[in-house]
Order: sequence, then C-alpha cells, then structure tokens
Amino acid sequence: MEPEIRVGVIGAGRMNQRAHIPNLLAEKCEIPAIADPRFETAKLVADAFRIETAYGYYQDLLDREEVDAVVVAVPDPLHAQIAMDALEAGKHVFLEKPMATNSGDAPRMLDAAHRAGKKLMVGYQRRHDPAAEITKRLMTEFADTGELGRVISMEWRNYGGDWLWTVDPLIESKDDPPQEALDPRMPPWLPQELWGEFSVVNNGLAHGIDLMQFVAGRPTAVLAAFPAYHTGTLIVLDWNGVRTLIHAASTEGSVWQEWLEVRYERGWLRFATPPALHSNQPGSVEVYRGSKGITERYEPPHEWAFRREIRHFLACIRNDVPESPTPQEALDTVIVVEAMFRRAMAGQATYDIAY
Ligand SMILES: NC(=O)c1ccc[n+]([C@@H]2O[C@H](COP(=O)([O-])OP(=O)(O)OC[C@H]3O[C@@H](n4cnc5c(N)ncnc54)[C@H](O)[C@@H]3O)[C@@H](O)[C@H]2O)c1
Repeated sequence: MEPEIRVGVIGAGRMNQRAHIPNLLAEKCEIPAIADPRFETAKLVADAFRIETAYGYYQDLLDREEVDAVVVAVPDPLHAQIAMDALEAGKHVFLEKPMATNSGDAPRMLDAAHRAGKKLMVGYQRRHDPAAEITKRLMTEFADTGELGRVISMEWRNYGGDWLWTVDPLIESKDDPPQEALDPRMPPWLPQELWGEFSVVNNGLAHGIDLMQFVAGRPTAVLAAFPAYHTGTLIVLDWNGVRTLIHAASTEGSVWQEWLEVRYERGWLRFATPPALHSNQPGSVEVYRGSKGITERYEPPHEWAFRREIRHFLACIRNDVPESPTPQEALDTVIVVEAMFRRAMAGQATYDIAY
C-alpha cells in the first residue's frame, strides 16, 4: 500500500473542480483543505468533494503541517508568488500552467524548489496523453531507423473548439472575485499595449511549445512572429534546424481542432489532441509511411491526460522521479514566449510585391 499523500487545493475554480480534485481523490489522496478568497465558493466546493476545511487565505492552508503538497489553479499572475510561498512552507507544488507571467520570476521559483528540496511540476497535461508518448516513441524510432528520412518541418495548429464538453454548471456561490487589482507581472520591457496579447499567448500557445519540447527538445530561434491570438497568431521557429510553424486562432465550433504534425522526407506523423476536459476521448496518432503508401492510425487504450499528469506528480513525491515537465523546461517555455514578443517588437522587413 503506497503511503497516503495529503494534498491541499488552492483555487476553487474550474480546473480544480473539473480535473484536479476528482483525479486526486481517484488516486486515493487525502484532501484536508481548500483555499480561495471566494470563501463561500470554497465552502461549497469543500462540501461537494467532502473536503474538511475551507479557507479564504491560502497562507492558512500552507500553515497546516500535515499538508504534504498543494495543487494550485489560480489566475496566472499569482502563480509565481503562491508557488514560492508553498515551497517555502515545505510543500511539493503542482502548479497549473503557465509557470509565470515573466521569465524573471520563473528562476526564483526554481531556486525556491531547490532550496526546499521539493517538487515543482507545471501542468502541461498534453505531454501526459498516451498518444503524446506514442508520438515521442515513433519520432525516436524514425530518427534511429531513418525509415521516413529527415524531418522537413513541424507544425502545431490550434483553432480551439469546445474543450469543456459538459453542460454541468460549475459549483459557485455569488461571492465576487477578489476586488483588488492584480499586478499582471508582465516582463518589464513589454509595452503595456501588448500585455493582453502576451497573457493570451503565454497562456494558450504555451501548450504547443511544451508539447514540441517534449518530443523535440527546445527551439533555437524565432524567425518570424505575429502574435495576435484572436485574429490568428503565426510564429515561425527554428527548432534545432527544423522549420516550425505555430498557427493558432480562437474559432467557433463544437469539435476540438488541435494537432501536431511532423513532416518527413518520406511520410508524416500527426498527433491530434483531444478536448482537454473530456476525460473519455483519446488523442490519436496517424503515420503515413510514404515508401509503403500506407497510413496507420494508433489509438492507445485511453487514460485521461489530466489523470496521468496528477499520477506523475504523485510519483515524483513518492519515488523522487523528475517532474514532467521539469521546472527548467517550464521556465524555457516562458523564455520562448518572451522571445516571440521580442521578435515581433523588433519589426519585420516587409517587401511589397512589385508586379
Ligand atoms: N491545463 C489546461 O489545459 C488549463 C485549462 C484552463 C486553465 N488552466 C490554468 O488554470 C489556472 C486556473 O484556471 P481556472 O480555469 O481554474 O480559473 P477559474 O477562474 O475558474 O479559477 C481560479 C480560482 O482561483 C481563485 N483565486 C484567485 N485568487 C486566489 C488566491 N489568492 N488564492 C486562492 N485562490 C485564488 C479564484 O477566486 C477562482 O476561484 C490558470 O492559471 C489557467 O492558466 C489550465
């Protein structure tokens, strides 16, 4: 019997209600307390999941000595401070993505984890989808055997869709969110008119960057960047010598539209991700082997990426295995997002076509 881990929950909103609390309970964790400044909501969520204590301040939860770890799902600008406070209080931390809203805060979080000797895992669940693991395995195989030739390009596309897949209302009282204005903790060099766009890109595209880091290591350079999520963000990167396209836009539709495609000289591989909160829909992988003229489809036995993600976090605590992503990989993702904005701000030469 594995020793029971006691996990405090910080944030009583969607992600903790829909994914993390149910998965922690399914993994047989004890959840002694939850904290949210929307105290009435915290109490309702505590009742619904039979959590003994609700707090209005997360510091009260961190003061509880028997709490081994915390799962934090709160607005992005609070990630760095709450994670560091929790680490300093001696708790392992699972933190929803992105790690931070600027690359200056993230190394301080890494230091805090190191000083505390505790785990810090950032929530990029796509890499925990069984189909992501198949993708990585196949890419390694193709690199070793050369069957499909050299990688020509990669692309990650995300056009949104319905990722919630439920009509159930969230549990919430009518209490207002905290009134005091949140310091967005934007990179100090970023002009204020780009703050909104940066937040959206750092929050959304970060998933694609993390996924590609998972299968292909970290990118080398940003070649072109047009970050504008709501009208379509287009980024071209050099990913260790491979031209890589990121295209994302928020479009309407019930079907989730997101995939990672790797194009080889003699074929291609495509990993289509499922809608995040639909616990029962697998990701899928298709491979076209050009020399044989066949397309194969891989549908692994499904397990929800969020469930495997939390299980991995618990394994980090129990067996001292590395976080996935590691804190350094999560920091690298913030650095890549910042590099996109630096590239965009550096301006691009435009050549009008002279007919
Ligand atoms: N991994 C994914 O696919 C995914 C999807 C959506 C959101 N997220 C991330 O999850 C995080 C939370 O998103 P959500 O959709 O649950 O938001 P939400 O607004 O539903 O919930 C956030 C909760 O945090 C609470 N909160 C605010 N300040 C707090 C504080 N000081 N202490 C404790 N709680 C506080 C709010 O009152 C709210 O209840 C965000 O960082 C977001 O980027 C991840």
